[in-house]
Amino acid sequence: MEIIELIASRASVRDFLPDPIPEEILKEILEAGRLAPSAQNRQPWRYLVFTDNARIKKLALNCGLIGLSNFFISKAPCLIIACADSSRNVRINHQDYYLVDTAISFQQMILTAWSHGIGSCWLAAFSEKTLAKYLKIPKSWRVVALSPFGYPADEKTMYTKMISSFAKSGERQALEDMVSWWKR
Ligand SMILES: Cc1cc2nc3c(=O)[nH]c(=O)nc-3n(C[C@H](O)[C@H](O)[C@H](O)COP(=O)(O)O)c2cc1C
Repeated sequence: MEIIELIASRASVRDFLPDPIPEEILKEILEAGRLAPSAQNRQPWRYLVFTDNARIKKLALNCGLIGLSNFFISKAPCLIIACADSSRNVRINHQDYYLVDTAISFQQMILTAWSHGIGSCWLAAFSEKTLAKYLKIPKSWRVVALSPFGYPADEKTMYTKMISSFAKSGERQALEDMVSWWKR
């Protein structure tokens, strides 16, 4: 598949089949994250990988009150938590690039997963404090995002249909609204 087709066909997946992700594919997904570029090549990303659904179910109950809105993760066969180690930060123009670096790396993983027909969904609705305490995450790490990974179920639940409809997930800005062709 052409890269643009891969990007255009990806959409957040919130309903999963229970089938596990084969280990070699999961390793390829993580490898895609490992190969990402980063500011001064600091590679600040750290990933926590869950492949046991019972542990994912338990985790879903430890994401704080706001995290309950993403309770659909409890059906996923795999879940990855993307963390960023602030001790590897590069700060330029008052911007902390360790968070940017981690987002780049995680998106590479999401696209690689999709190239194997494995769906995922970026999640920011969680209590970092509750999650970090539950997982005993080192003090220097931030929890950037979570994502379930798995093969999409044939049917979407009413709840997940509502989430994507509420966010108008299929819509994107026009190119002219986001691009300035600088001619000066
Ligand atoms: C940083 C970030 C955080 C997000 N957090 C959530 C979330 O907590 N719960 C959820 O259901 N979707 C979440 N999403 C998914 C967005 O709603 C979705 O990407 C957007 O509506 C576009 O839809 P698409 O991914 O299907 O193209 C998040 C996406 C991003 C990039």
